[in-house]
Amino acid sequence: MTPIESNPAPAPAADPAPSPAAPAAIVDVRVWEWPVRAFHWGIVVLLVALVVTANVGGSWMDWHMRAGYAMLALVLFRVLWGFVGGPHARFSSFVRGPGAVLRYARSLMRGAKEGHVGHNPLGGWSIVLLLLALLTQAATGLFANDDISSDGPLVKFVTKDLSDAITSFHRRHVWWIFALVAIHVTAVFAYLFAFKENLIHAMLTGRKRLPASTSPHPEHGPLTVRALLLFALSAFVVWWVVKKL
Ligand code: HEM
Ligand code: HEM
Repeated sequence: MTPIESNPAPAPAADPAPSPAAPAAIVDVRVWEWPVRAFHWGIVVLLVALVVTANVGGSWMDWHMRAGYAMLALVLFRVLWGFVGGPHARFSSFVRGPGAVLRYARSLMRGAKEGHVGHNPLGGWSIVLLLLALLTQAATGLFANDDISSDGPLVKFVTKDLSDAITSFHRRHVWWIFALVAIHVTAVFAYLFAFKENLIHAMLTGRKRLPASTSPHPEHGPLTVRALLLFALSAFVVWWVVKKL
């Protein structure tokens, strides 16, 4: 892509030779398109709402189930987006083999972290695990019951014993999500304090300031229509499963 903003360090007038200590040129790169950011902050809000409504219970279970459908639709959307979304959102750009993961982990331990424009190879796997965990949680909710008045829409397809077993899994599995989120948020703050890399700002604005040498920075065209169509498709699939199956 064309750098949007470039700040090469000016050479000092008295010493035209490049100084080894001169700061590297920095470019301002668009990394996370709006659908990725909307997805991320959407699932954060929904996860909080889901945990609160499940714990309050009673009539709030209706909202628990609605929020669960919204979570399911968002995660389905993100999986599809992982194939046809922006360059850094695609699974092919951040799901890497064990060699790349080990190399990255070693670079972290040496304190000479490899630069990555999007997710790094270690973070990439944590994102795959988070998506799988959210999908599992939402899918098992469809078969869960609270023994009072709230039955997931697919309870009718399984025996009461199986629904109870799935419900018990659904209640325990959320701790796996909490563990993954705790690691995820700790890692994000570790990057902020240890490497002075503000990933949160990037997930809010979509932009990162990176050394010009961190390449490539593939740019993408407008993705809005594609994102809206895919989101409509995901919402339709969830609606069909809940209402028509
Ligand atoms: C509460 C539950 C949370 C969940 C389930 C979650 C999940 C995720 C997922 C799935 C991604 C990948 C985004 C994508 O590629 O589409 C991601 C990235 C990210 N999340 Fe979260 N997140 C949570 C909370 C947070 C919080 C509270 C923060 C900030 C303090 C945060 C900061 C970030 C950042 C900065 C990235 C980008 C990481 C990178 O640059 O590789 N997340 N998160
Ligand atoms: C990622 C999405 C979801 C999360 C994070 C989540 C979280 C939770 C949690 C933490 C509980 C346990 C509350 C407790 O132990 O008191 C629970 C219970 C329950 N959830 Fe979900 N849930 C999700 C999706 C769904 C969906 C889609 C449905 C159904 C449409 C659903 C239906 C239920 C039911 C019926 C219970 C009651 C179980 C009981 O009272 O024993 N959940 N959920």
